[in-house]
Amino acid sequence: MPETSPLPDDAALTAESRPRDGQRFSPSAEFRASAVASADLYAEAAADRLEFWADQSRSLLHWHRPFTEVLDWSKPPFARWFADGELNVAYNCLDRHVLAGNGDRIALIWEGEPGDVRRISYAELTAEVKRAANLLTSLGIGQGDRVAIYLPMIPEAIVAMLAVARIGATHSVIFGGFSAESLRSRIDDAAAKLVITADGGWRKGRISPLKPAVDAALAGEPTTVEKVLVVRRAWPDDQELEWTAGRDLWWHDEIALMDADHVAKSFDAENPLFILYTSGTTGKPKGILHTSGGYLTHTAFTHRSVFDLHPESDVYWCTADIGWITGHSYVVYGPLANGATQLIYEGTPDTPHGGRWWELIQKHAVSILYTAPTAIRSFMKSGREIPQSFDLSSLRLLGSVGEPINPEAWLWYREVIGGGTPIVDTWWQTETGGIMISALPGVTETKPGAAQVPIPGISVAVLTDKGKKVGKGESGLLAVTQPWPGMLRGIWGDPDRFVETYWSKFAKVENGPLYFAGDGARRDEDGDIWLLGRVDDVMNVSGHRLSTAEIESALVAHPWVAEAAVVGANDETTGQAVVAFVIIRSRHSDAAAEPGAADQLRSHVASTIGPIARPRQVFLVSELPKTRSGKIMRRLLRDVAEGRAVGDTTTLADATVMQAIGDKLADKA
Ligand code: PRX
Repeated sequence: MPETSPLPDDAALTAESRPRDGQRFSPSAEFRASAVASADLYAEAAADRLEFWADQSRSLLHWHRPFTEVLDWSKPPFARWFADGELNVAYNCLDRHVLAGNGDRIALIWEGEPGDVRRISYAELTAEVKRAANLLTSLGIGQGDRVAIYLPMIPEAIVAMLAVARIGATHSVIFGGFSAESLRSRIDDAAAKLVITADGGWRKGRISPLKPAVDAALAGEPTTVEKVLVVRRAWPDDQELEWTAGRDLWWHDEIALMDADHVAKSFDAENPLFILYTSGTTGKPKGILHTSGGYLTHTAFTHRSVFDLHPESDVYWCTADIGWITGHSYVVYGPLANGATQLIYEGTPDTPHGGRWWELIQKHAVSILYTAPTAIRSFMKSGREIPQSFDLSSLRLLGSVGEPINPEAWLWYREVIGGGTPIVDTWWQTETGGIMISALPGVTETKPGAAQVPIPGISVAVLTDKGKKVGKGESGLLAVTQPWPGMLRGIWGDPDRFVETYWSKFAKVENGPLYFAGDGARRDEDGDIWLLGRVDDVMNVSGHRLSTAEIESALVAHPWVAEAAVVGANDETTGQAVVAFVIIRSRHSDAAAEPGAADQLRSHVASTIGPIARPRQVFLVSELPKTRSGKIMRRLLRDVAEGRAVGDTTTLADATVMQAIGDKLADKA
């Protein structure tokens, strides 16, 4: 279990903002006076949880056909929420705001990495999604079909997702940083009929091509993909691209032919909205399935109350890419369902200079910022002078997500970026669909480093391995004890894995089965929750989930590699980092002895899975520590990777292995 990272630079905090035991911050009277959330929400949810969610759903969404049943939990863990209701997700995010007279409100302020800006109103976004919906229909896509989306952070990514939702089809967004191989396996698993991509996007001052990865993914074995729609983003019109006639179509050519009229049909509340692949404990990513009515209720409610959204005046910015769940729930569905105005930025935080984010906040008067601890820690490292040279006074609320935030980073974020604004540390997962544990700004007194309390309508517990509640001041495993509207409905095509992964650990406890989140947590003396990181073989690198097994299988696919073991080691900036221990086949020992061999293996992982999976270090070793039953003892490898004295080795089959590893690494040093 990773501990939270140490403070990168203690001097970065002023004396009064160093963490102190028991430190807490009360909401200001001013914030409280106009806060969206109130303590009543907890009371209402406690009085009748299902009625609470039904009320939220009715007040936040438009139902074409109202539901009469809130939750069907007759076949746990397969839940159905609002199942006899009908709605259209895209209509909820678009048309109804226009019909309510807010068509001129800006939905998206988009800035490309080179500095190009587009401002798109709700009326314009609605018209564009209608055209795109007509285009998808003309390509034969309809309810029950899957569409793969592999795009940079450009408005068309959001248009594409909403157009798929509008016609009742299911999207599978694949992060643009994933390799052709990762893209292909996701396309195959979901049997997607269409891929929507772009020529490329801008990253770190350069064009990062996307279409060639799609071409590579679709080459070879026949696929289910019939058409590829290509958005022109990066290259000028006269740049030639590889083109497969009959399969590839330019988005702009096709969209121009489409009508901007499209009537949104209603679909069942449980109509599949999207599949999003995430890493688990095996080598094969899981296609997490989310449906419509419950998911939209959960994301709209949490987006409004956790971010204190005042849609008529706020400019909200969530820095996540749409390739991750945070981008789905808190860039696309939650904010647009709530009629928010939001900033979207295509590029990296340090291009063309280290103050790019702060420049964007100043320029677009961002009032709510939602980002990850990794980003905060890397800004801390570069020093407060950079953000302090911009006017950040428009900010009034900050959010954190993706990994535990250490109190030092929390305090720096609050002081240097927020100038004393409240912070919400939000715990949730791809599987939960929306925020589960977070303070409510204006209501909850906050504590640096603690995610704190479940949001109204959500029930969680910290349990022992046997399913008993831990006491105050104790640690255990985090579980969700009641079904919730945004919960995953399954793993695409694999109901057994769904039951086994999430519902078997606490299947036999009272009122079970309970949802096992895979995270460790501690309850403090007040009963507040502190997240401690994953307890399984899932790593969290810069807030991105990676599986040790997936990286190991990429490594053993390399001809040099006989065996590999991967661990997540603590890292000051990225939370955890990937560290691999590799045994080279004897017939390749000469090649592997060449300088740069370990780097070749690092690059091999990056090209097999994607650059986010590139190990920080690859150690070439002659043996791996194993128990007598042959299980690799990662705990010992983690000790090595983190530079600690190696712990208890008594259960090793061969007690000399750790010494041999230590000697081998010492030779290299
Ligand atoms: O370990 C927890 C960590 O991120 C995991 C979920 O990863 P993913 O599905 O990719 O979703 C990330 C964005 C929601 C969790 O199991 N995690 C997420 N938020 C927090 C967190 N750990 C501590 N504190 C958080 N606020």
